[in-house]
Amino acid sequence: MRCVVANWKMNLNSDEARAFCEDLLGRFTPKSGTEVGIAPPYTLLRLVSDLVRPKGLKVFGQNGHAEAKGAFTGEISMPQLLDAGCSGVILGHSERRQFFGETDAALAKKIKAAWQWNLLPLLCIGETLAQRDAGQTLEVLRQQLFILSETGPGPLWVAYEPVWAIGTGRRAEAAQVREAHAFIRSELNRHLAGTDHQVPILYGGSVTPESFPELLGIPEVAGGLVGGASLDPRKFAELVKQAY
Ligand code: 13P
Repeated sequence: MRCVVANWKMNLNSDEARAFCEDLLGRFTPKSGTEVGIAPPYTLLRLVSDLVRPKGLKVFGQNGHAEAKGAFTGEISMPQLLDAGCSGVILGHSERRQFFGETDAALAKKIKAAWQWNLLPLLCIGETLAQRDAGQTLEVLRQQLFILSETGPGPLWVAYEPVWAIGTGRRAEAAQVREAHAFIRSELNRHLAGTDHQVPILYGGSVTPESFPELLGIPEVAGGLVGGASLDPRKFAELVKQAY
């Protein structure tokens, strides 16, 4: 299975989102074997889900709280994401870890909450430049996946997003991606041993139509989690077609 997911982050308004979706849907015919998803800001979830879900695309929240409801000003819950038309939720994006103090302990609870509400968690992991330079990449990935020993197995997508490659135009080298994805696969095999969960591993970080074909040729790269290039429907449609 191939997966291509647009992470719009804190971009686009409702007019732009509508125009994007209408343009995008005219550019490719959804195909079985390739899952396409969009993660819009919360205010656009309903609009986007009404437009794209009838065509078979998935809609993801960009975060979700572990509690179903309560006094958590500014947060959004898993049932609220579900109600807005989501079928999945991005969890642990490095921007959430970096700027909003997201911890592995909180993420374990969020993953369990997502499962409880039948949402597919898309767990993001990846090392900072300082960690890579210190030779700690695989150890960081191992630690970030260790939460699966607490959550137990369940449906999951994982995205490897080296922090230094996000929004920088500096995509990871093929050898770095190959090593990281092979390691993530071996850790997932360990955590999910004895279950039949198939976990696709996406790459994220400065993915463009120029770089994606090479990335897709790397073993264990099932697709991409795309930021900047996903804001242009022409580029995003090109990425989807490259994944076919
Ligand atoms: P860019 O594609 O803009 O580097 O962002 C990647 C990302 O963070 C996707 O979640």
